[in-house]
Amino acid sequence: MDKKTVHTGIIGSGFAAKFHFECIKRVHSTNVEIAGMFDINTEQGPAYAKERGIQFYKTLEELLEKVDVIHVCTPPVVHESIAVAALQQDKFAIVEKPLTGYFGDGSDDFNGDTFPKQTALDNSLASIKRMLDAESKSKGKILYAENWVYAPSIQKEREIIEKTGAQILWIHGEEAHSGSHAATYAYWKYSGGGSAIGKGCHPLTGALYLKRVEGKARNNKPIRPKAVSCRTHALTRLKNFEDKGHLRADYCDIEDFSIMHVVFEDGTIADIFASEIVLGGVHNWLEIAANNHRTFCNINPNTAIQTYNPVDKNFEDIYVVEKIGTKQGWSNPSPDEDWFTGYPQEIDAFYRTVAYGEPVESDSNLAADCISTIYSAYVSAEKTGVEVPVKTF
Ligand SMILES: NC(=O)c1ccc[n+]([C@@H]2O[C@H](COP(=O)([O-])OP(=O)(O)OC[C@H]3O[C@@H](n4cnc5c(N)ncnc54)[C@H](O)[C@@H]3O)[C@@H](O)[C@H]2O)c1
Repeated sequence: MDKKTVHTGIIGSGFAAKFHFECIKRVHSTNVEIAGMFDINTEQGPAYAKERGIQFYKTLEELLEKVDVIHVCTPPVVHESIAVAALQQDKFAIVEKPLTGYFGDGSDDFNGDTFPKQTALDNSLASIKRMLDAESKSKGKILYAENWVYAPSIQKEREIIEKTGAQILWIHGEEAHSGSHAATYAYWKYSGGGSAIGKGCHPLTGALYLKRVEGKARNNKPIRPKAVSCRTHALTRLKNFEDKGHLRADYCDIEDFSIMHVVFEDGTIADIFASEIVLGGVHNWLEIAANNHRTFCNINPNTAIQTYNPVDKNFEDIYVVEKIGTKQGWSNPSPDEDWFTGYPQEIDAFYRTVAYGEPVESDSNLAADCISTIYSAYVSAEKTGVEVPVKTF
């Protein structure tokens, strides 16, 4: 079959825009022509474009005219407006996580610790609805960039569930490390919350996806989340926290630890940890306890390579793994961190959807369940863990 050509655009020029560009280069199922990129930052944007030999556009609208699909690699606060603009032009929107959220009332002194969390839930549900409505009227689609869905370990587990007719009883998992790099991450008004949304969205969506797979394999009916209980804590903001310099400790009004206990509509459960207080490199894993098997999906670290290095300096030019504090002693250097994380598989799958109409594994509905669960979790956390129902669309 002749490969189709897809015209693409990148929005943003930060961390995510960089790895999206690398993944576009690894797309093999279609020919990709990068029409250009857009960023409101008129210094960083053009520099990113120049370095990669692509065109910088001064407006989103001009770029949209030239593309079939855009990569929304901006802070979450503008995911909705950019994705809806693309959908209104019948274009596809690859939207980074989290799909959307609640970013305060616009006031400079908005305080994420004290505002009523029901407001966040109501507003984020309204945002999801606007995005889903725009998608339903469009020839384009929302392609939700949740790489955990495409991580090879999670896809292997999908195969096991589908072929063995497994019933998942309990999923537990975690995303954690020593603290996110972005300065703005410390503020609810930019990040839409703390660990629960910033990190918890990954293992949570992995769990939501696998329960969906289970239901579809059994009777073509996805198993959706029904209720959630949650606790959040700000451990590095405790008065008695002793800062030894290994953890980021300048959060303003967000949590740095969360645990969500999700109950699905079939009564089975998932427990999702997310935090900024874990040393030793990024810790991304999901464990599945089913009625016929048990699986550990070790996204990061994993034991593909185990290396002992007696002197830190030996490895100064060697990338080991995200957020590792030291390269001395035993470590698990990732031979291809992007591949284990699912980034290139995700982007290639999205281009197959755009070019050939292949169904989307990580779609807007999965993203909506994730956001709905997380903001219901914040309502629960405000009430120190009371169970809160999860609305599904
Ligand atoms: N899937 C993952 O593993 C992963 C990893 C990192 C970040 N992310 C997600 O990617 C998104 C971007 O995060 P990041 O770390 O790259 O942030 P960043 O701050 O490094 O970059 C954001 C970029 O967006 C630009 N921008 C801001 N508002 C804009 C607008 N209205 N129009 C156009 N450009 C605009 C900024 O100028 C900047 O270049 C976030 O949603 C984040 O959660 C996902």
